[in-house]
Amino acid sequence: MQDRIETALKAALSAPVAQPAPPQLAAALSHAVFSGGARVRPQLALAVAAACGEDQPGLADAAAISIEIIHCASLVHDDMPCFDDADLRRGKPTVHKAFSEPLALLAGDALIVLAFDVLASASMATPTRTAPLVSRLARATGMPGGICAGQGWESEASVDLSHYHQSKTGALFVAATTMGAISAGADAEPWVELGARIGEAFQVADDLRDALLTEAELGKPAGQDAVHDRPSAVLELGVEGAVRKLHNILGGAIASIPHCPGEELLCKIVSAQARRLTPTGFEHLAA
Ligand code: IPE
Ligand code: IPE
Ligand code: MG
Ligand code: MG
Repeated sequence: MQDRIETALKAALSAPVAQPAPPQLAAALSHAVFSGGARVRPQLALAVAAACGEDQPGLADAAAISIEIIHCASLVHDDMPCFDDADLRRGKPTVHKAFSEPLALLAGDALIVLAFDVLASASMATPTRTAPLVSRLARATGMPGGICAGQGWESEASVDLSHYHQSKTGALFVAATTMGAISAGADAEPWVELGARIGEAFQVADDLRDALLTEAELGKPAGQDAVHDRPSAVLELGVEGAVRKLHNILGGAIASIPHCPGEELLCKIVSAQARRLTPTGFEHLAA
């Protein structure tokens, strides 16, 4: 599955162009996408597509990588000095450090546009799936419930942690499950809850890692929620409370998987994620 994702991403980012493109900006796009991400969201999208009886592999690939491209764009912008001001991402210099702030801003913008182009270009054979795919991705990216909204909450005086997590992180996981289903011609609605729960768990786990691990272990700066005074599950619940919350959410995630041919495999994937997300030393809380 990992090879399939990398191949599709390489094809999307190196599509032949008729006119010369600015080389540094092209290199910034590659740096943003091929710097060692775990590819969790596209894997989830492909797993749901397979569970729904995938009949258009090219469209499933496009759905999966369009989500990953948006995710990479969001990280480029998130690391910029006007947001989290981070120098390191995936163990490498962030895009604005490796290139420049103007190029990071443009790389993020160009990737967002590329994600929609990838979807549109792959949908020609199945045009009735295009509109719902585009709409799901747009909602996960923008306002009022997508990544833009999530980042926007950081400028407000009071923030509800769940709303913040749902829009900052959960929305793209909902896109992953629902777009996986749509790409296979299945109904999206039954897949919303699974995406929302995995997304919320993922952000709680990220808050725990931010509090418990070092920069070397994370490949990105540690302790950032405290530094930037961000709402976080650890701040609100403490470490043990956050681990318990993580496992409650993931238990519900497994229970929410709709009945479908690939149900069993999907349960295994979500359980494996639950083990991966549990911080070392806190497994005893994963009852
Ligand atoms: C990091 O996401 C940002 C969050 C939403 C917590 P990932 O942990 O999926 O980052 P990469 O893509 O593997 O670097
Ligand atoms: C990342 O949020 C989610 C985005 C919308 C980009 P964070 O700022 O909490 O994630 P990291 O810790 O930088 O990966
Ligand atoms: Mg941030
Ligand atoms: Mg950040």
